[in-house]
Amino acid sequence: ELRGVIALDGPSGTGKSTVARRLADALGAGYLDTGAMYRAVTLAVLRSGVATDDDEAVLSIAENVDLKVSTDPNHQETLLGGENVGAEIRGQAVTLAVSAVSAVAGVRALLVARQMRIIAEVCETRGGIVVEGRDIGTAVAPDAALKVFLTASADARALRRSLQDNASGREVSIDDTRKDVDRRDRLDSGRTTSPMQPADDAVWLDTTELDLQGVLDEILALVAERD
Ligand code: C5P
Repeated sequence: ELRGVIALDGPSGTGKSTVARRLADALGAGYLDTGAMYRAVTLAVLRSGVATDDDEAVLSIAENVDLKVSTDPNHQETLLGGENVGAEIRGQAVTLAVSAVSAVAGVRALLVARQMRIIAEVCETRGGIVVEGRDIGTAVAPDAALKVFLTASADARALRRSLQDNASGREVSIDDTRKDVDRRDRLDSGRTTSPMQPADDAVWLDTTELDLQGVLDEILALVAERD
């Protein structure tokens, strides 16, 4: 049984989301997708018509957004003003703009504080939570019981992302996907406020040659070691 926080960080296309949900389910823990929060704020910014490089205007949208995320690994929902935007936040428009919005320091401060509150609440009610993102082990939950940094080769990540896109009905070529994955990594790793970075005490897990069950088994073994 899990007590406390498992932090899952790493770039996109490593299988992070699926692994995080399955892990939370297996452990009877809660689940928080912090990427969905940055994506939902980005959608609110796009809908407002504000320029994504206008930091002050972007922050003001973020401050006033009515955002709710579920923490049940088996029932994922992202609500913006009560509307379920789970599909729209994974579309191309949001994916292209999200790195700019999430680089705004004020937006990060706001969302990190919210994430900390959600984590504290879920830990109290369910005992534990699996949190996925880019800065969980470094900024959101530096005291996490276990920190895992997922990696995979660029080819494997582009392939997984495009399979996912196609399964969701989005037709994107593998070349475009690979460019997008590279571009987002560069932006997410290069920003000044809490860039994507492995925590010093994170365990690195390369998922290139592993399937979902393989990754899960590795992480469950790490959890067992810490019990
Ligand atoms: O994980 P996902 O691909 O949904 O994340 C979308 C974007 O949100 C990332 O590319 C990154 O710009 C931002 N993000 C972040 N910090 C997190 C989670 C996501 O900056 N903890």
